[in-house]
Amino acid sequence: MELSFSLDNIKDAARQCWELNTDATVFALHGEMGAGKTTFIHALCDLKGVKDVVGSPTFSIINEYNYTEKGKEKKIFHIDLYRLKDEEEASRAGVEDCLYSGHICLLEWPEKAPGLVPAEAVHLYLTVTGLTTRKLIINRN
Ligand SMILES: Nc1ncnc2c1ncn2[C@@H]1O[C@H](COP(=O)(O)OP(=O)(O)OP(=O)(O)O)[C@@H](O)[C@H]1O
Ligand SMILES: [Mg+2]
Repeated sequence: MELSFSLDNIKDAARQCWELNTDATVFALHGEMGAGKTTFIHALCDLKGVKDVVGSPTFSIINEYNYTEKGKEKKIFHIDLYRLKDEEEASRAGVEDCLYSGHICLLEWPEKAPGLVPAEAVHLYLTVTGLTTRKLIINRN
């Protein structure tokens, strides 16, 4: 699936992403610095009703957000591998535990530890097409 969006309709793009109806819980977001990975993740979290202030996990590798769905307490892990060197470091930080926890995981910089990303993960590719426009390609398995 391919989408184009700006900040004005990022919510619609995020909704389409949740509507993929995939069994996958891991969403790997690819894209250069400033492509809008964190911004898109914020939109995804907003739609789920995440109440915590969703900051950028620049200094923490793993952020945990809580929300309620159908009366159940659920969580989303927002993981940013940018500062990690390799898979070993990611593993030591507990990234695999999150990725295989069954909870939704939104992963930035998956290319830092490709071997840790579950095969059934959905891959999203963000590219800058203008000052406020982005192209999003979603490859579901
Ligand atoms: N349509 C859009 N979608 C997402 N971000 C946009 C859009 N238009 C403008 N922006 C701006 O682009 C910037 C994207 O920054 P963001 O931190 O989300 O990128 P990132 O891919 O997470 O970068 P990094 O790799 O450094 O973590 C923000 O300042 C955001 O406001
Ligand atoms: Mg980011």
